[in-house]
Amino acid sequence: MVKIARTPKAKRPKPDLVTEFIPDDPLGPPVVGELAPPPRLTFQDEAAGIYLYQAESLEFLDRIVAKHPEGVFDAIFADPPYFLSNGGITCRNGRMVRVDKGEWDKSRGSELNHEFNVEWLRRCQRVLKPNGTIWVTGTQHVIFSVGYAMQQLGFKLLNDITWEKPNPPPNLSCRYFTHSTETVLWAAKSEKSRHTFHYALMREHGGGKQMKSVWRMMAPAKAEKRHGKHPTQKPLALVERCLLSSTDEGALVLDPFNGSGTTAVACARIRRRCVAVEMDATYLKTAQNRVTEVFEQHKLIP
Ligand SMILES: C[S@@+](CC[C@H](N)C(=O)[O-])C[C@H]1O[C@@H](n2cnc3c(N)ncnc32)[C@H](O)[C@@H]1O
Repeated sequence: MVKIARTPKAKRPKPDLVTEFIPDDPLGPPVVGELAPPPRLTFQDEAAGIYLYQAESLEFLDRIVAKHPEGVFDAIFADPPYFLSNGGITCRNGRMVRVDKGEWDKSRGSELNHEFNVEWLRRCQRVLKPNGTIWVTGTQHVIFSVGYAMQQLGFKLLNDITWEKPNPPPNLSCRYFTHSTETVLWAAKSEKSRHTFHYALMREHGGGKQMKSVWRMMAPAKAEKRHGKHPTQKPLALVERCLLSSTDEGALVLDPFNGSGTTAVACARIRRRCVAVEMDATYLKTAQNRVTEVFEQHKLIP
């Protein structure tokens, strides 16, 4: 894990007023999703450039596209719905439980799921700067659709990272191998993109050897969940590695499915700016508390 060291105030990059185009008052009818309320800024730390929005992602992205048709983000980290909450069973804390992560995670059938993936990815591609890159996590339930959508849209696939979990829950049915990996696709906006990759830093993190595309990392520790539980929270170490390898300090990062705020927390820790979108108010509160804690802890560091 990366040491927290905040840039002294004077050196911090000026916040890009990415928020200026999303005022709190309604801007007329939403473009996508008739019932989506207008985006609401729920937290900001202007000095660090961290902004949390309660919004429906597609509608939010349409507003950014309208304001910044040439692209505004250096990187995107997206942990979208996996569409796996469909009555299956899993093992949690040694007990058999139904997989139910929320309405947002229910499958609507492979065609509609793919349509949704194409639509949010299309918008993400538009809001990326020409050399920007996107990271997308997923399991077999969603990742093939995400990869195909990326090919359809003309992204340039850079890597498929395998996140290996050393201690996965057992497979209760004993009819399959124990699921113990997730995939993280890394892609650039287009074939023409000249993407950033901090090779030397990743080599250093890899113990002096070229870092491989299989990353062995534990699921989030209890300490990462002390401000509230999210059913699909990602480890901070995973998001930090993605962003450290592909962005410079001060870069502007978007997370369209922010959940408990892992991307925003990672950005606060490694001095990237962040615009994070989530529709659930409870998760936004967790995210806000997690980000605030990073800054409060930091005040203790001389
Ligand atoms: C897979 S979780 C992300 C978890 C996150 N990476 C973390 O570490 O906590 C996806 C999140 O996206 C949110 N979500 C799903 N569909 C959305 C949409 N259309 N607009 C905004 N948020 C959405 C869900 O509420 C959920 O919290």
